[in-house]
Parts: sequence; structure tokens; C-alpha cells
Amino acid sequence: MCLTLKCIHLVVFLLLSNTFVIKSLDVLEVTDNDFKSDLLLPTIQIILLVNPYNKASILPFSLGSIERQLYPKHRIKVWIQSELLVSDKSDDKDKKELFQQMLDLNAMTVEMLRKWIRDNRKQYNDIELVLGHQSVQDLHEDKYWTTDRFKRLIEMKSYGLEISRQNWAHFVLFMDSDVVLTHNQVFLTLTRSDHMIAMAPMLYSLGTYSNFWAGITPKGYYNRTDDYLPILERQRMGEFAVPMIHSCLFINIRHKKSFNLTFDSRLITQEVSPFDDIIAFAKSAKMNAINLYINNEEVWGYIPPPVDSTVSSLKSIEQDVIDLELESLVEGPEFPIASSLQSYVSREKNDELNVDSVYVINLVRRAERRKRMVTCLQILGIEANIWDAVDGKQLNDDMIESKGIRVMEGYLDPYHKRPMTFGEIGCFLSHYHIWEDMIGRNLSKVIVLEDDVRFERNFKNRWKKVLSKFDTNTHDFLYLGRKIQDSKNESMFNELFVEPTYSYWTVGYMITRLGAQKLLDAKPLEHMIPVDEFLPVMYDKHSDERMNQHFPVRNLRALSVYPLLIYPTHYVGDNQYISDTEDSDKTELTSNTIHPKHTEL
Ligand SMILES: *[C@@H]1O[C@H](CO)[C@@H](O)[C@H](O)[C@H]1NC(C)=O
Ligand SMILES: *[C@@H]1O[C@H](CO)[C@@H](O)[C@H](O)[C@H]1NC(C)=O
Ligand SMILES: *[C@@H]1O[C@H](CO)[C@@H](O)[C@H](O)[C@H]1NC(C)=O
Ligand SMILES: *[C@@H]1O[C@H](CO)[C@@H](O)[C@H](O)[C@H]1NC(C)=O
Repeated sequence: MCLTLKCIHLVVFLLLSNTFVIKSLDVLEVTDNDFKSDLLLPTIQIILLVNPYNKASILPFSLGSIERQLYPKHRIKVWIQSELLVSDKSDDKDKKELFQQMLDLNAMTVEMLRKWIRDNRKQYNDIELVLGHQSVQDLHEDKYWTTDRFKRLIEMKSYGLEISRQNWAHFVLFMDSDVVLTHNQVFLTLTRSDHMIAMAPMLYSLGTYSNFWAGITPKGYYNRTDDYLPILERQRMGEFAVPMIHSCLFINIRHKKSFNLTFDSRLITQEVSPFDDIIAFAKSAKMNAINLYINNEEVWGYIPPPVDSTVSSLKSIEQDVIDLELESLVEGPEFPIASSLQSYVSREKNDELNVDSVYVINLVRRAERRKRMVTCLQILGIEANIWDAVDGKQLNDDMIESKGIRVMEGYLDPYHKRPMTFGEIGCFLSHYHIWEDMIGRNLSKVIVLEDDVRFERNFKNRWKKVLSKFDTNTHDFLYLGRKIQDSKNESMFNELFVEPTYSYWTVGYMITRLGAQKLLDAKPLEHMIPVDEFLPVMYDKHSDERMNQHFPVRNLRALSVYPLLIYPTHYVGDNQYISDTEDSDKTELTSNTIHPKHTEL
């Protein structure tokens, strides 16, 4: 795609200069014939309404979203509206700190907008910034969505529609300043349709929030219907007519019926309650039989959940942005950052999660996983030690034998009924070498993560709270994530921990020096089983006596965090799932020695 657009620019230039036309048209034919010239693409007027203070942490990403679009920038005009906060009274001592914080964030917001415009104006057809003025004292402290705020929004959006028409735009895009589009073809795709009047790319959020409703009550309130989740979770994909779309909204203003759409409820009904721009918009669509479409063909982007109070909005949005960034890394590309605003993205200071070391096990040949993990760790501010995994693909029976490794006689995977794979042996050795390393370096406690970790919301703060309650005198081992096999049999240890029964996975855990010593003392290389079987054996919750008998001392004192703090990014059975242990060759060493009576093991 990128190449194609570049070619087109070249062609336009060459057409003007009247040379080599034939040759470059040939190139064009070969690459893509969907759009022969970017001059045929619709023009877009973006209306970006920027909250004066609480979007400072996300603005580099939302502006980056516009930059990332594969769309000729000279077909785009951007109109940005925000406010300059002023402090006109100085007597309010209680709120002084809050006001100062808001003023600082406002100064940063305005500075970013100005810088972005300075650096980008030449590329776009036009960029305009309109700054109103507002007294910081007038902002309501508890209630974020005041009538006054709605009134301003409605005025701005109505004006936005008007100037889009004046500017001869084909489409207007109303974009909230906390929308992050990670996909680079949102503009291309959403403006493709001539027949649709209003549509939105479906945006992911945290929990089940999104930028559409599948049901609306007659009074205009939210109604969760059975259609909602299948669309949100993309069990059904495509374009769906829904009663409400908001936050990132394309309107085809060449369509006559678009004149019937309004954000101002006063224009369409006597009843002004609820006085709300998006509800008025949905109502005007319904009254005029205009379908609103939500498109979930791709993962287009993200939006933080809404805030309700000014004070909480300042705290929560930064954490929400971190969690959304991590979420977007599970499947797709990183958040786009506006090229000239890199320095405004504030990253948490790196630390080692208050343990001596954080090991991340990664196979060298899995470079894309390493890259993803490194980015996640950077976003979370975690200093980690990337630990090269033992690659099962490079193991063979001779090597295993020469290292004195014996797979437990008769071991068969309980699910697949097959012996250990070289991948599983490599995985065991990777963990084992870390236990050795921490003993060698005399570290008192470490965290071990595999490289396909999905971090739960607010991971770092939650982890620090958990760690402060973990007593290394009474316990040696703590699961951060695991596959619970027998939840009914598990009991809470206290409000943060459960006593784990048989569990799968070694996706993440903390282990103490004493814990690692216990695991090494058990001499597991002499009767190797997969590491996620070995751990339950060692905390004595494995019900298979044939495994237990090889490890007479089973004294690991284990806990698990509750609720879990990490999960694997993909589970067995997912499309995306590629296991480093399941798809590798099986070791011959044990298959030769397996006795028929053990096959049910
Ligand atoms: C919400 O939607 C459901 C399903 O469409 C409908 O049965 C119900 O009456 C609606 N509730 C309200 C208050 O409109
Ligand atoms: C929709 O717009 C048309 C033309 O502007 C107008 O005649 C018609 O009354 C409008 N419909 C409604 C329901 O407002
Ligand atoms: C290991 O560290 C502990 C403190 O965590 C210390 O008491 C002990 O002496 C150290 N052992 C060695 C061998 O350095
Ligand atoms: C709970 O554990 C006991 C002993 O390990 C076992 O016999 C029982 O079947 C388990 N209960 C459930 C519900 O799995």
C-alpha cells in the first residue's frame, strides 16, 4: 500500500512534467488498480475536539493516528478546537493544587497542538487551530459532563459540520482526541462507501466499552442487547446498522440526507432531556431513517473508557493509556506516535518490580515475540533480563544423554498421550538454568516470565501491592499466571492469594532463593517431566503417584495471586497459537522405554 501511494505521487508529478508517463503508469497498473489516482479519493475534513487538559497523555497517539493513515494528506483538512485555561481568581486555597495541575496539563496540550501543526501543516491541505478561553475555576470538579460542557460540544460540532461543507469536503470525520487508530487504512476503508451516510470504525476499549450501542431505549438511553457482544468480540464481522455510533464518526456530507443529521436536540424535538450531542445525533438519524453503521472488519483502534469526574480523570487516563497500549500489542501494531511529539510520551521509570531480577525467557528465533515483550516492558517501565531459551529444535537424543538428562520413565502427556517433546525439554532447561543462575548470583527472589505474556490492567501497581503482602518466610513460590485445573478445590489464603492445586503453565511466577534451591535439590533432570507438571509435584498437589514417587521431598510452599495478574497472549486452540513445545519433535529416548502399562499416564 505504502509503495502504491508513493507511486501515485510520482505519477502526478510526472504527468505534470510530461515525461516517462507510460512507464510509470505501467508501474501503477501492476501495483494496485483500486485507486488510479489519489486525486479520485474523497476529501476529508477532520474535526478534532481536544479537551483542554485531560487528554495530554493520549494526544501524541491520537495525532499519530492521523499521521499513520495511508491516505493522501493533501486530501485532508484538519480543524482543531481546544481551550486555553486561565486562572482568574487566586483565593481558592483548597483547590489550588488541582487547578495548577489542570493548568500545567493544559499548557502542555496547547504546546503539543501548536508543535504538531507547525511540523505538519505543509503536508495537509490545511490545518487550523481554534483556541477558546475558559476559566479553570468554571470547570466543575466532581461532575465532568456538565450542561455547559454539552452546550459547548454541541455548538462546536454543529459548527464543524458547517465548515466541512464550506470547505467542500466529501466526508467529515468527528474524532475525539482520545481515539487511537492503530490500523493505517481506517480512512481508506470508511470513506469507500458512497451509499452510507454515517459510519464508525469499531474501537476497542477496556472491559466491554466501545464507540457504538446496539440498543437504545425510546428515551435515548443505553440498552444492552444481545447483538452487542457478538459485534464487539468480532464473532460477526462486517458493517452493522446500529442505533448509536460516536467518538470517531464519518459523515458522508455529499449525501442529501446528511442535512437531516444534527447534534443539537433543540432542532429536532421539544424534549431537551437528555441534552447530549451523541443522543441527539442518534435521534436525528432514527427520525430520518438514516442507518448508522459500525464497521468491525479489522481491529481499527482503541478508545479509553469514559471518565465521570475531573479529579479521577487526571489519574485514570494515564493508566488506561498504558493498558490500551499493551492490549493493542497482543494482536496488532504498536500505538502510533506523532513524529514530532515523541518526547511528550511519558514513560514510567524502569524498575525491577521490587525483586532482584526479572527474567524473560525467549527463543532467539522468536524475534517478533522478543520485540513485543521488550515494548511491553518499556511501556510498563520494567527492567528485565532477556534470557535466551534452550531451543528444542537444536536438541537431540545424544545431547540430552550427554548432559545426563533422563526423561521420566513412562511419561506421556496427559492430554496428547505422547512422550515429552524436545520443545518441552528445552523449556524445562530454560527454567532450570534460571534457578541455577539465581542461586549462583545469590538472588533472594526473582520473577520469571515467558515471552507470550499478556499483562492484566494496572499490572504494576497491583503487583507491588501483592508483593508487599507476600511473606518469604512462609512461602517460596508465587504464580502470577497459571491455568487453574480444579478451581472448586482451591481455598483462599487471604484476600490476595489462593493455595493452588494442580495447575498448568509456567507463563509467570516469582520464586525465592530457597524455592529455587528446593527445585534443584529434587534433581529433576534425572526424571524430567514438563516443567508445569514438575511444579505441582513439588508443591505436592499432583495426584499422580507415579510422578510423585520420583520426588520424595515435595516441600515447595506455593501460593497463587488472586485474581491472576498475567495470562498467555494466546491459548492452545486459538488461530494465533504457536507453541514452542507442542510442535517440536518427540524425544526417542523415552518412547523406546515406555512400558505399555504406563500409557494411560
Ligand atoms: C432493550 O432491548 C431489548 C431487546 O431488544 C428490549 O426487549 C427491551 O424492551 C429494551 N428495553 C428498553 C427499556 O427499551
Ligand atoms: C430532512 O431534510 C429535508 C431537506 O433538508 C427536509 O425537507 C425534511 O423536513 C427533513 N426531515 C426532517 C425529519 O427533519
Ligand atoms: C546471600 O545473600 C544473603 C542475603 O540475601 C546473605 O545473607 C548471604 O550471606 C549471601 N550468601 C552468599 C554465599 O553470598
Ligand atoms: C478435590 O481434591 C480431592 C483430593 O485431591 C479429589 O479427590 C477431588 O476429586 C477434588 N474435587 C474436585 C471437585 O475435583
